[in-house]
Amino acid sequence: MNNFEFYCPTRVVFGKDTIKQLEHLISKDKKILIIYGGGSIKKNGVYNQVKEALKNHTTLEFGGIEPNPRYETCMQAVELIKKENIDFLLAVGGGSTLDGTKFIAAASKYEGDDPWDILEKGAEVKNALPIGDVITLPATGSEMNGNSVISKNATDEKLSFCSEKVYPQFSIIDPQVTYSLPEKQTINGIVDTYVHVMEQFATVEENTPLQSYWAIGIIKTLVQEAPKVLKNPQDYDARANIFWCATCGLNYWFSLGCTQDWATHMIGHELTAFYGIDHGQSLAIVLPRLWRNQKASKFEKLADLARDVYHVKDSDDFKAAELAIIKTEEFFNSIGMKTKLSDYGINPEEAAQKIKERFEKRGCKLGEHGNIDAQTAYEIIKSC
Ligand code: NZQ
Ligand code: ZN
Repeated sequence: MNNFEFYCPTRVVFGKDTIKQLEHLISKDKKILIIYGGGSIKKNGVYNQVKEALKNHTTLEFGGIEPNPRYETCMQAVELIKKENIDFLLAVGGGSTLDGTKFIAAASKYEGDDPWDILEKGAEVKNALPIGDVITLPATGSEMNGNSVISKNATDEKLSFCSEKVYPQFSIIDPQVTYSLPEKQTINGIVDTYVHVMEQFATVEENTPLQSYWAIGIIKTLVQEAPKVLKNPQDYDARANIFWCATCGLNYWFSLGCTQDWATHMIGHELTAFYGIDHGQSLAIVLPRLWRNQKASKFEKLADLARDVYHVKDSDDFKAAELAIIKTEEFFNSIGMKTKLSDYGINPEEAAQKIKERFEKRGCKLGEHGNIDAQTAYEIIKSC
């Protein structure tokens, strides 16, 4: 096991009818900016619950954060924050709204010329406005981590940053708010969670059985609960289990002391940046092909996945690993997720070439061994 340090300052408030606790979670002397997305919260009653809970607080609103939140939109919120002297940000929505809010929190306090430098040049986030959230989509784990992924219209780029300063102070998770999710978003979230777990699990054997059991436990739960939630979107327990899987899937708890990968995400982000496909969709396309390309180094952990989750009996690790890849893709397909570029009318050769050029410029060396360079990424994408 590698050395590690764990820090997570987020209070998680989980369960039925928890939005009303907002009243006590934010001090009354704060001037709050409620930040939301395209309006789903106004249709499903979440907005009304938030406003009711904060009726004795001072609030302003900023709506319109897009899926794959845009730098340009976030900067409009920064302007409003400076004008109105806002001192607390409340994100109400999915991972995009929360990621946008994290960037807005950092950009509002940024002292350099252009806050985009936080994403492009890794400029340090020295300070940020405090954040809380009501998260409405189980997927990103953004409610319990310090990550944010932002896209820029002007350049078709999608980049991420990570900072201790943008952890939410609290995250309210009421699984009932997910009853209104379009089926596509429920599926995206299940796949995103699966891939988050695998980016941390299917890497190097570091002799960390507890972390491995946790990771496998999340995958087993997902595989078991996904059909329930798709069959009956108002199954509270299934919704609650899926949400807790998503949160725990990216709070880094089960990868402590382990080696992480994240190459599927880095390639997936480029597919979203160039072609606009959803984050979950991009991952479902890349993961199986990346695993096949990297099987020589990943086969032991993939064999564990095959045996522990999919009951594969084959004693040959390499054959079991191939079955893990096949079973994973079958699981994605079984919940209605497509897994090929051609399913979205994207030409693999063209996509591979575009992303290769970008990775070459950036000098990318991805994966847990740093062996996925631009050429290897090209080969992976071409096989998608
Ligand atoms: O915008 P509104 O109108 O709110 O609608 C959203 C959006 O259209 C809708 N939605 C959300 N909750 C709903 C709902 N509709 C009905 N009922 C609800 N309860 O769903 C659509 C998608 O929302 P979005 O926030 O974009 O989805 P998600 O949570 O999957 O977030 C995706 C973004 O997160 C990034 C992705 O790259 C992508 O930009 N990621 C963030 C990570 C992190 N912060 O740690 C890690 C992830 O790997 C990921 O990269
Ligand atoms: Zn993800």
